[in-house]
Amino acid sequence: MQNNIKEDLVLFNELVNELLADEFKNPVANVIPTSELNNKFDLTLKSTPAIAEDFKKELKNLVLNTPKSSSKLFFNQLFGGRHSKAILGDLLAVMLNNSMATYKIAGPQVAVEKEIIKEVSNIIGYPKAYGGTFPTGGSMSNFMSLVMARDKKDSEIRNKGMQEKFIAYTSKNSHYSIAKNAAFAGVGRDNIRYIKTDEKGRICADDFKNQVEQDIANGFTPFYINATAGTTVLCAFDNVAKLAPICKEHKIWLHLDGAFGGSVIFSKKYYHLVNGIENTDSFCFNAHKTLGAPLSTSILVVKDNRDLYNSFNNDATYLYQTDDENYNLGQTSFECGRRNNALKLWTLWKAIGTNGIADIVDHEFHLADTARNYVKDNKDYTLYSFEDSLSICFNYKDFDPEDLCTKLYENNKLMVGFGHSKGNAFVRLVTINGENSTEEIQNFFKILEEFALENSDLIKRI
Ligand SMILES: Cc1ncc(COP(=O)(O)O)c(C=O)c1O
Repeated sequence: MQNNIKEDLVLFNELVNELLADEFKNPVANVIPTSELNNKFDLTLKSTPAIAEDFKKELKNLVLNTPKSSSKLFFNQLFGGRHSKAILGDLLAVMLNNSMATYKIAGPQVAVEKEIIKEVSNIIGYPKAYGGTFPTGGSMSNFMSLVMARDKKDSEIRNKGMQEKFIAYTSKNSHYSIAKNAAFAGVGRDNIRYIKTDEKGRICADDFKNQVEQDIANGFTPFYINATAGTTVLCAFDNVAKLAPICKEHKIWLHLDGAFGGSVIFSKKYYHLVNGIENTDSFCFNAHKTLGAPLSTSILVVKDNRDLYNSFNNDATYLYQTDDENYNLGQTSFECGRRNNALKLWTLWKAIGTNGIADIVDHEFHLADTARNYVKDNKDYTLYSFEDSLSICFNYKDFDPEDLCTKLYENNKLMVGFGHSKGNAFVRLVTINGENSTEEIQNFFKILEEFALENSDLIKRI
């Protein structure tokens, strides 16, 4: 087979059109047991080229049998839907194939990335010294914030390694990347203090303060707290306004992980959930989670770009040959070759404006209200989550949530996951697909109820 871009773009269009039609008709792909993979697909790689017809057939087979994460019945992960303007930008980024390390390689794409970082920093009230980057995801954004916090506390760590016991703080509701990152950064998983949370899943500021004081008294060095704007399961918003003064007093880096809920910064109605964000040292959000941008579109902004530079710059004469670190973004990012993840957010933002992005966020909260009210008003349901959240955590009758979710998946009815909090297990519905309508949320419950009742003998009970 030939290396022929024009021909393959025609094939791409053909496959994508089939995918879209199929996704509409069959929003949940058939489950393929792992034991069946070899029968269902010919994925074997051989020394000889495939025959063109077989290649196309196999590719189509693969595309149509992959889980449909953009369909109207996908509620399983914290991403969903696909905004066409973001897709357009990402497809162009693939064709352009720049690396964002230097201005020489990425040219005006560098300015695209810088424009987004500038606007986000302005929205959240960071001063002129702001900086930022597009890491590979929320986990990496959190990692970079931890490294900056560590280096800011002791710049010698970059050369000599950790000399004393640094303590990081978060809550049990935070993302699991915090524990992994502590291990990667040499802080150690055991040096994370998980602070108690209140009835709405938010870090208790008083407990944080007491723990910091106790740690200092015991000779430890508190250096970092990870607060969350939209915790992974409950979508709780930690109160940064309450945490910030404690951080200021003890010179603790305050990072706000908004991977899930951070896009509230665009909404006049929901900005209050991150009140005090201007007092954080760094903030990240994922446009691939709530804004319909493809994976991954993560933005990390930092109050002072020097912190990013100090932790992530390195000499490399084979790379940095023109321009300075303001335009050679590799000096403030983790990777060397770095994909252009900014263009898709720029095409989306440019096309619909900040107001259009706010509308997406407001609509998702409206969908959440619809779902929450349905659950609250129905005596067959128990609700475990609260207002101002994009997660609706519930149980239906006494059906075991884990078994119910798994059986819904195995029977190609719905893609939805379960979560746990404070000893309870529940179904977690997330309204993160801005393309869904309230009817589609009502349909979610209809499918779930019909399935549960029709299969009531087969589904485990709590
Ligand atoms: C609160 C929070 N932080 C970080 C992440 C990780 O983001 P990513 O999957 O982009 O690494 C997630 C993912 O669900 C999350 O919910």
